[in-house]
Amino acid sequence: MMVMGRFSLPMFLFSLIAISPLFYQSSNAQNITNGLSLTFYNTSCPRLETIIRNQLRIVFQNNSREAAGLLRLHFHDCFVQGCDGSVLLDGSASGPGEKNAPPNRSLRPEAFVIIEDLRRRVHAACGRVVSCTDIVALAARDSVFLSGGPNYTIPLGRRDGTNFATIEQVLNDLPFPQANVSSLLPFFLDRNLSLTDMVALSGGHTIGVSNCSSFIERLYPNQDFTMNLTFATALRAICPTNVSTNGTILDIQTPRRFDNRYYANLVSRRGLLNSDQDLFTDARTSALVATYASSQGRFFQQFVLSMIKMGQINVLTGTQGEIRANCSARNAGTTTGMIEVDGDDHEEIATY
Ligand code: HEM
Ligand SMILES: *[C@@H]1O[C@H](CO)[C@@H](O)[C@H](O)[C@H]1NC(C)=O
Ligand SMILES: *[C@@H]1O[C@H](CO)[C@@H](O)[C@H](O)[C@H]1NC(C)=O
Ligand SMILES: *[C@@H]1O[C@H](CO)[C@@H](O)[C@H](O)[C@H]1NC(C)=O
Ligand SMILES: *[C@@H]1O[C@H](CO)[C@@H](O)[C@H](O)[C@H]1NC(C)=O
Ligand SMILES: *[C@@H]1O[C@H](CO)[C@@H](O)[C@H](O)[C@H]1NC(C)=O
Ligand SMILES: *[C@@H]1O[C@H](CO)[C@@H](O)[C@H](O)[C@H]1NC(C)=O
Ligand SMILES: *[C@@H]1O[C@H](CO)[C@@H](O)[C@H](O)[C@H]1NC(C)=O
Ligand SMILES: *[C@@H]1O[C@H](CO)[C@@H](O)[C@H](O)[C@H]1NC(C)=O
Ligand SMILES: *[C@@H]1O[C@H](CO)[C@@H](O)[C@H](O)[C@H]1NC(C)=O
Ligand SMILES: *[C@@H]1O[C@H](CO)[C@@H](O)[C@H](O)[C@H]1NC(C)=O
Ligand SMILES: *[C@@H]1O[C@H](CO)[C@@H](O)[C@H](O)[C@H]1NC(C)=O
Ligand SMILES: *[C@@H]1O[C@H](CO)[C@@H](O)[C@H](O)[C@H]1NC(C)=O
Repeated sequence: MMVMGRFSLPMFLFSLIAISPLFYQSSNAQNITNGLSLTFYNTSCPRLETIIRNQLRIVFQNNSREAAGLLRLHFHDCFVQGCDGSVLLDGSASGPGEKNAPPNRSLRPEAFVIIEDLRRRVHAACGRVVSCTDIVALAARDSVFLSGGPNYTIPLGRRDGTNFATIEQVLNDLPFPQANVSSLLPFFLDRNLSLTDMVALSGGHTIGVSNCSSFIERLYPNQDFTMNLTFATALRAICPTNVSTNGTILDIQTPRRFDNRYYANLVSRRGLLNSDQDLFTDARTSALVATYASSQGRFFQQFVLSMIKMGQINVLTGTQGEIRANCSARNAGTTTGMIEVDGDDHEEIATY
C-alpha cells in the first residue's frame, strides 16, 4: 500500500470543492493531424463520450486514485512509439503484465483493467469501431476534468498499433525523474513539443503518487539544497532509508485535485521529483512556473493545448493499424502492418 503519512488530510478537504465550469473549445486553436477529427465518432458511435465519462464518474467515486493512473497511461502511450495503444499490449514492456517493466516505469495495474472495461462497454454499444488508444486518450481527458481540471474536446480517430514496445524503447523514450531541464528537454523536442509544453504537461503531477525510489537521490546521502527543509524532513520520515519502497503524493497541497498547486509547490521548493523542482530552478522555465502558480486559468489554457499536441504524437490514422477487439492483444491473425477494418463487435481471441 501507498504510505501517505502526514500528507493524507488535505485530500478530503479539497475533494469537496466544486468542479470547474470552464470549457475549452479545441477546434480553432489547434492543428489537427490529418485523419483525426473532433467529430470522428459522431455517426459511428455517438454515445462514446457519454459512456466513458459516466462510467469514469462511477470508478472515481469508488476510488479517485484511478484518475492519476489513467492520465499517466496516456502519457506513456504517446511517448513510447506514439499514441497507438502499444502500452496496453501484454508482452510490451510496461504493459499490463508488467513482467518486464522496471519499477521506475511501471503503471498502475488498475488502469489497464479500467480501459478494457470501457472498451467492452463501448464496443457493446457501437460495435468494434473505437480504438483502444482513443479510449485511453478520452479516459485521460476525463480524468483531468473529473479531478477538477478543464473540460475540453480532443480530436479522435487514432488506430491501434501492432508493434510491441521493447524494454529498451521504454527506457529510452520515457523521461526519468532525476532529469533536469537540460536532460528533460530533448524528450519533448524530439516529439515536437516545446519548452512551454514541457512545463505545462509536467502539471499532470498535480495528481497521483510516486515511489520513494523516484526521488530518493534528493534525500540521501545529501539533501538536495533546492528542497525546503521542512519538506525534506517529512519525506525522510516516509522514506527512512535509501532503499525504502514506500511512496507518497506528488502534490503536497491538493494531491487528488487537478489544479495549479503543483506549481505553487515548486515556487515554495516543495516539488517531489528532481524533474519537477528543476522547472523552477532553471532560468529558462522559472517564469512560466511562476505564471502558472499565480494563474490557474493560464495553466489550464496551456495544459489543454499541450495535451492535444501530445495526444497526436505519431498517431496511426485511416487504414493504418487496426481496431483491437481486446486492448491487451493484437487481433487474431494480425501481423505487423495488417489492416483490419470490419466493424463487428465479435470478440476475437489473439493467437500470436
Ligand atoms: C516531465 C517528464 C516526466 C517525468 C520525469 C515523470 C516521471 C514520473 C514518475 C517518476 C512518477 C512516479 C512513478 C513512481 O515512482 O511510482 C510519475 C507519476 C505520474 N506522472 Fe509523470 N513524469 C513526467 C511527465 C508526465 C506527464 C507529461 C504526465 C501527464 C500529463 C504525467 C503524469 C503523471 C501522473 C498522473 C503520475 C501519478 C501516477 C499514479 O499516481 O498512479 N507525468 N511521473
Ligand atoms: C463539458 O463539455 C461538454 C461538451 O463537450 C458539455 O456537454 C458538458 O456539459 C460540459 N460539462 C461541464 C460540467 O461543463
Ligand atoms: C499550428 O501550426 C502553425 C504552422 O505550423 C504554427 O505556427 C502554430 O503555432 C500551430 N498552432 C498550434 C496551436 O500549435
Ligand atoms: C458531433 O457531436 C458533438 C457532440 O455530440 C456535437 O457538439 C457536434 O455538433 C457534432 N458535429 C457534427 C458535425 O455532427
Ligand atoms: C472499488 O475500489 C476497490 C479498491 O479501492 C476495489 O477493490 C473495487 O473493485 C472497486 N469497485 C468497483 C466497482 O470499481
Ligand atoms: C530504472 O530502472 C531500470 C531497470 O531497473 C534501470 O536500468 C534504470 O537505471 C532506472 N532508471 C532510473 C532513472 O531510475
Ligand atoms: C543535468 O543533468 C545531466 C544528466 O542528466 C548532467 O549531465 C548535467 O550536468 C545536469 N546539469 C545541471 C546544470 O545540473
Ligand atoms: C515533427 O515535425 C516535423 C516537421 O513538421 C515532422 O517531420 C516530424 O515527423 C514531427 N515529429 C513528430 C514526432 O511528430
Ligand atoms: C519550508 O516550508 C515551511 C512550511 O512547510 C515553511 O514554514 C518554511 O518557512 C519553509 N522554509 C523556507 C526556507 O522556505
Ligand atoms: C544506500 O546507502 C548505503 C550506505 O549509505 C550505500 O552503501 C548504498 O550503496 C546505498 N544504496 C543505494 C541504492 O543508493
Ligand atoms: C515506510 O514508512 C513508514 C513511515 O511512514 C516507516 O515506518 C517504514 O519504516 C517505511 N518502510 C520502509 C520499508 O521504508
Ligand atoms: C516501490 O517500488 C518497489 C520496487 O518495485 C515496489 O516493491 C513497491 O511496492 C513500490 N512501492 C509503492 C508504494 O508503489
Ligand atoms: C485479451 O488478451 C489477453 C492477452 O492475450 C488475454 O489474457 C485475455 O484473456 C484476453 N481477453 C479476452 C476477453 O479475450
